[in-house]
Amino acid sequence: MSGRFVTFEGIDGAGKSSHIEALAQWVRERGHEVVVTREPGGTPLAERLREMVLVEPMDTLTELLLVFAARRDHLAGQILPALARGATVLCDRFTDASFAYQGAGRGLEAARIGALEQWVQEGRQPDLTIWFDLPAAVAAQRRAAARQPDRFEQQDEAFFGRVRNGYAARAREHAVRFVRIDSEGSPAQVWRQVVAAAETRGWW
Ligand SMILES: Nc1ncnc2c1ncn2[C@@H]1O[C@H](COP(=O)(O)OP(=O)(O)O)[C@@H](O)[C@H]1O
Ligand SMILES: [Mg+2]
Repeated sequence: MSGRFVTFEGIDGAGKSSHIEALAQWVRERGHEVVVTREPGGTPLAERLREMVLVEPMDTLTELLLVFAARRDHLAGQILPALARGATVLCDRFTDASFAYQGAGRGLEAARIGALEQWVQEGRQPDLTIWFDLPAAVAAQRRAAARQPDRFEQQDEAFFGRVRNGYAARAREHAVRFVRIDSEGSPAQVWRQVVAAAETRGWW
């Protein structure tokens, strides 16, 4: 029996981290084991790679390769074993973020990212992707109020506009797996949409 693999996506400041623990609790209350994790990261090695990717200057292809190296370790060491024992895995970002950030944001060709996706995931895709969508300017205001920016969050609004468009393109290509959440509203409005996305799947 395989558990469900759910990813949270969207630009920085969209509300992913604010909602992932709440959804974990919601799924647990329905009697399922839940693993909450994130990318880049999720295993000791991948967390070390995350630190490099978020801090060290590097060229874009190096960045992409480190993100996928971290992803491979995370899949093999954490995600696939959890799914194999039937757990629900909630992951804050996954490969759609590589298409959005390194692809649409930084300009790497989607075909190159797609090759790594095939290689590293061996056909495994998330079962559900919850996409927190909002204008780049609104996300920037939220981030400014909340935290010191990392290497990605220091990018300008045009960058986040491209990343948002990258997510929109992935959502069109993977329409069955993606659910778009209008994340401009209040936390309560966003949460209601997250629950609706989970309920309509009928898995929990
Ligand atoms: N719906 C919302 N309305 C207003 N502020 C929000 C909303 N959702 C999250 N925030 C705030 O915006 C900031 C970024 O949210 P966060 O969950 O960290 O986003 P992400 O993980 O997608 O980068 C946090 O300070 C959070 O409290
Ligand atoms: Mg976050």
